[in-house]
Amino acid sequence: MTDLSTDIDTDSVVAGLVSSLTLEQKVRLLTGASFWTLHSEPQIGLDTIVVSDGPAGVRGQLWDERDSSANLPSPTALAASWDVDRVYALGQLIAAEARRKGVGVALGPTVNIQRSPRGGRHFEAYSEDPWLSGVVGTAFVRGVQSCGVGATPKHFVANDSETDRMTVNVNVDERTLREVYLAPFERMVTEGGAWLVMSSYNSVNGVTMTENELLRSPLKDEWGFDGVVVSDWMGVRDTVAAGVSAQDVAMPGPDGVWGDALVEAVRAGQVSETDIDEKVLRILRLAGRLGALDGVEAATPLAEPWPAERIDALLREAAADGMVLVKNDAAGASPVLPLGTDPGTVAVIGQHARIARSQGGGSATVFPDHVVTPLDGLEEAFGAERVSFAPGVRASESLLPVDATVATDPATGESGVHVRFLGADGGVVLDEHRGSGRLTWLGDPVLADTAVVEATTTFTAPEDGEYAVGFAGLGLFRFEVDGELKSDGLFFPDGTDPFMAFLNPPKQSFPITLAAGQTVALRLEHRPQQQLGLAAVMFTLGYEEPFGSADDELERAVSLAAASDVAVVVVGTTEQLESEGFDRDGLRLPDGQDELVRRVVAANPRTVVVVNSGGPVILPWLDDAPAVLLTWFPGQEMGHALADVLTGAVEPGGRIPTTWAATEDDVPVWQVEPVDGQLYYDEKLNVGYREWMRRQAAGGPAPAIPFGHGLGYTSWEFGEPSVEGGGAGGVGLEVSVPVTNVGDRAGKQVVQVYLSRVSDSDIERPVLWLAGYAVVRAEAGESAVATVAIEPRSLQHWSVDDHAWLTEGGTYAVRVGSSVAELSEAVEFTV
Ligand code: BGC
Repeated sequence: MTDLSTDIDTDSVVAGLVSSLTLEQKVRLLTGASFWTLHSEPQIGLDTIVVSDGPAGVRGQLWDERDSSANLPSPTALAASWDVDRVYALGQLIAAEARRKGVGVALGPTVNIQRSPRGGRHFEAYSEDPWLSGVVGTAFVRGVQSCGVGATPKHFVANDSETDRMTVNVNVDERTLREVYLAPFERMVTEGGAWLVMSSYNSVNGVTMTENELLRSPLKDEWGFDGVVVSDWMGVRDTVAAGVSAQDVAMPGPDGVWGDALVEAVRAGQVSETDIDEKVLRILRLAGRLGALDGVEAATPLAEPWPAERIDALLREAAADGMVLVKNDAAGASPVLPLGTDPGTVAVIGQHARIARSQGGGSATVFPDHVVTPLDGLEEAFGAERVSFAPGVRASESLLPVDATVATDPATGESGVHVRFLGADGGVVLDEHRGSGRLTWLGDPVLADTAVVEATTTFTAPEDGEYAVGFAGLGLFRFEVDGELKSDGLFFPDGTDPFMAFLNPPKQSFPITLAAGQTVALRLEHRPQQQLGLAAVMFTLGYEEPFGSADDELERAVSLAAASDVAVVVVGTTEQLESEGFDRDGLRLPDGQDELVRRVVAANPRTVVVVNSGGPVILPWLDDAPAVLLTWFPGQEMGHALADVLTGAVEPGGRIPTTWAATEDDVPVWQVEPVDGQLYYDEKLNVGYREWMRRQAAGGPAPAIPFGHGLGYTSWEFGEPSVEGGGAGGVGLEVSVPVTNVGDRAGKQVVQVYLSRVSDSDIERPVLWLAGYAVVRAEAGESAVATVAIEPRSLQHWSVDDHAWLTEGGTYAVRVGSSVAELSEAVEFTV
């Protein structure tokens, strides 16, 4: 991997440049030039730097279909693969996508901890385990930055749920903060060499993060972070307090609380010019690394765009390798999976099979140029003539944006939508043809002269039925169907997070009966106002498909399952349910999908249940379902990857990175709503499986899916683990275990190593904690020795008294296995 250490020469060049700028010039650089750019400064050869979200792909400066992006599997899927080499390669893909779009900085990875399964952005983070989160995140950072693009671990720190995220104060003790929440960031800085870090909206222990001392120490002083701390969007709220803090850049721009006010604060002696210089120096250092500063060579070679086939091949492989096979019982002589390529007739059931949920919602959203749905993928694999589909239930209440399949631009006759920007005098400022009814403009200059945005289309019904047409958006709208006014008003829901209202706006829809081929003219008019203090417009012109009576559709799906040789039922959540700015109300699958699964499972003993969600859901039918596969949000190659796994062309490679509960009542941390603005991390170090193990030891419930669990298509035998080394402080400690693939096909095993303390310890510890793992791939009959180096840090605890990492002497135990629930006898060693 590339050496990412700071170049001393660059630093001296950069220091000279800083001193050549006036105070006004310097302060100007500290706020974005626009929603997604940092200012250029021609005088010193500084180019504009473009930043873009993020973890699931690189959206670029537009928020729509015009500038499509490769859609990666959700970070939950990446962590589930436990495969850091592939995560590194995916980071390189992010860099290639970024460079293709003129982007220098990727706003990811998200490495907040999955403290509660209700966390809205759970799908966007890696794991409940700090060590795994850090290791996977570091591979991503290194991959991105090896190709001339900056990575931005976010959101620093303790932004682990979404409710009131702008104002919540997280109360967390120092040791827990260090060992659980800061730990992933520490690794991404010290080992990954991250060029940026994004500060979060929330407060920690009383101080909002853009002003928090944690930015200085440990981030900059102790860990040696020499990059840029960029704020989360609109996170800088106080000119002086953020000015004197180690916060470097306020986003977005061009407005904000710095600018002239910060210049004045410096003149008034409230903020020192040295503080400003340090921030500017960091920005110029970043620019140097990116190749955006004249005379300074980029730190790493800039990525070239990848050909589509290379992107799809990597995404297909990554999606399959993140899929977790939870169970795979026998149906007759052999397990249900794999099905092979000739399983007879296949009933594909569930709306998620046809409307692919490749990604979650919120700022991580990208617009892929294609998504292979499960239905497409399975038809391709098994032959369309053997695959039949039934939706079973209506799986989502949200509008489908009109697209090429149903919409015609009335002005051009092409598929899609016509958009006009009208000035106050009614004159057309700009008009354009668009491919989709999902429309967004953030900080677009055209909005300055726009009084009305108008979207029109001719909707053509693909089949006979009861449709609904309508829109979803925030603000003032007027909607007409065939010239008849249907809606005119201000739509603004209650909600504490403005982003939430903006990204998940209310829907207005109107029923209409249409015959196949019948057309209807839709016209939506929106009057933009300043939203969130920004020039931002986001709305959807959309429709709802006909759906027969709920009972009939359910019966039709069950009969189809019963009449087929195999049933594949695809259920899940949506990007509206797993998104940003709010947490999930509950973990049940919506819209009667549990009932659908129960009925299909009862109708066909060869049923595979495919769960397409970004984070945990409750699986009340788990005991009865013969085979259950979790796909997460698997990205644009979803259908191909699913087909590869179901046919057995590849093994499902995933091991669960966050415990899934059997019932909502069992979930260790349910409450994510602050009380009087406060959230207390009272469980301390016992996050996730650590708390499950503690409770189980005391007779508490077992989870539905334990941490680390996942099956492949072969079987394994583990030998006796041995421990070697372990000098003072655990230096050189190595755990080895022989493993043999005793099945009849090649496979992957994730050999996990957990530590615990044996004798009485003065230090409170989790029951056990993950300390390392090895991914082993072996042919049928082949043996291998999995060797896992244990870092000294894995034995250490953060001492609040000494303000340092300490190793407690005494006896420790190593357990090795394929999940926290499948572990070897303990092997003890003494430090
Ligand atoms: C999110 C960030 C994101 C930013 C820019 C914020 O609302 O929290 O993760 O990078 O918006 O889209």
